[in-house]
Amino acid sequence: SSKYQPFPLVSLPNRQWPTRHLTQAPLWCSVDLRDGNQALAVPMNVSQKLEMFDALVKCGFKEIEVGFPSASNTEFNFNRRLIEENRIPEDVTIQCLVQAREDLIERTVESLLGAKKVVIHMYNSTSPAQRKYVFGKTKEEIIAIAIKGAQMIKDRLHRLEETGTQVTLQYSPESFSATEVEFAKEISEAVMDVWQPTPQKKMILNLPDTVEVAMPNVYADQIEWICTHIKNRESLIISLHTHNDRGTGTAATELGLLAGADRVEGTLFGNGERTGNLDIVQVAMNLYMHGISPGLDFSDMNGLIRMYEHTTGMTVPPRQPYAGELVFTAFSGSHQDAIKKGLTGYEEHKTIWDVPYLTIDPNDIGREYHEVIRVNSQSGKGGVAYLLESEFGIELPKDMQREFGPIANNLVDSLGREVKAAELRDMFWKEYIER
Ligand code: KIV
Ligand code: ZN
Repeated sequence: SSKYQPFPLVSLPNRQWPTRHLTQAPLWCSVDLRDGNQALAVPMNVSQKLEMFDALVKCGFKEIEVGFPSASNTEFNFNRRLIEENRIPEDVTIQCLVQAREDLIERTVESLLGAKKVVIHMYNSTSPAQRKYVFGKTKEEIIAIAIKGAQMIKDRLHRLEETGTQVTLQYSPESFSATEVEFAKEISEAVMDVWQPTPQKKMILNLPDTVEVAMPNVYADQIEWICTHIKNRESLIISLHTHNDRGTGTAATELGLLAGADRVEGTLFGNGERTGNLDIVQVAMNLYMHGISPGLDFSDMNGLIRMYEHTTGMTVPPRQPYAGELVFTAFSGSHQDAIKKGLTGYEEHKTIWDVPYLTIDPNDIGREYHEVIRVNSQSGKGGVAYLLESEFGIELPKDMQREFGPIANNLVDSLGREVKAAELRDMFWKEYIER
């Protein structure tokens, strides 16, 4: 017997998502400056946050969760600087997170005075474990917290709207993916009953996979269930917010989009609590790879990585999809050969990108394809010939390549390590000249 058990499935007999495919980009919201920042050992200071904010705007994000202004003076002052220094472009909305508590809501509203477009994002936690251990409250009491918070926000909207701020409201039943869907629906509808969204003035219902507890198909079922059962769906923007505890944050988001969601929250390179938030770069680039424009610009990936590493103190691992230093590098001779042929074919026709081993054209993100020619017991004759020619100008005819390749390979195998070009030259010399 095990102390763990699989997460219960959602009853969705007519599920649609497995037979769909994506046809358009979702709305994107970067949560780098909030979820990403709260997970750093040393959170960003105001100037680092400003640098990242400008970079996110440059990438094309139109919604940016800038922080939790009631949590600290740094967070509050960051909002004030953004607003007072007019740093927020007209078409960019800033979003702020807040719990359903009066003092925190009050401070959040103050931090946003004078902004043009804002999202106030209220959350409270809903899963059975949170209800039982953290809050010690019944379902009804948890709903009461959410309704009270929703009303407190609604009562303060005039302070922002009077001065021309456009306000959208967002609710997250935190720990949604571990919550019974029926309860998540009930509490979300209770909040929306207070806020009264309409198709002309939609509100955001964000459904977090706060901690991944199941396979991504289960999250997709939960999303489709909410999309098909929630009251007044046409007045809601259904938003996904996945984390990566089981390593499937990207899969969960992509399946959640198939299941009917409209919007995606995530961070650059997956920074965020524990194993991180969804890596928004991956989902956007995956769409791009399907021929769908994501509406986000990652054409200067190296510049973005430099900014990210400098502001967060984190690093991008060498095998990170699309962004890692090694993802457009081929080490093996057969891969190099296939890529070379594919690139030549693409150069001739320049139509659909179908170069073997390269998911996208590295030039599209300001990168280049690299070959690393190393000769070890795994290498073929091509690598041996390449090194002799490029390093010493020894050009082996094809017959000789076929003959010397296996000889070199046996010698290298008996050494049990990678060999340098000069050692290969010595082997060649012994075999053909000194013999
Ligand atoms: O992961 C989460 O549930 C969150 C919420 C506050 C949206 O970050
Ligand atoms: Zn989160």
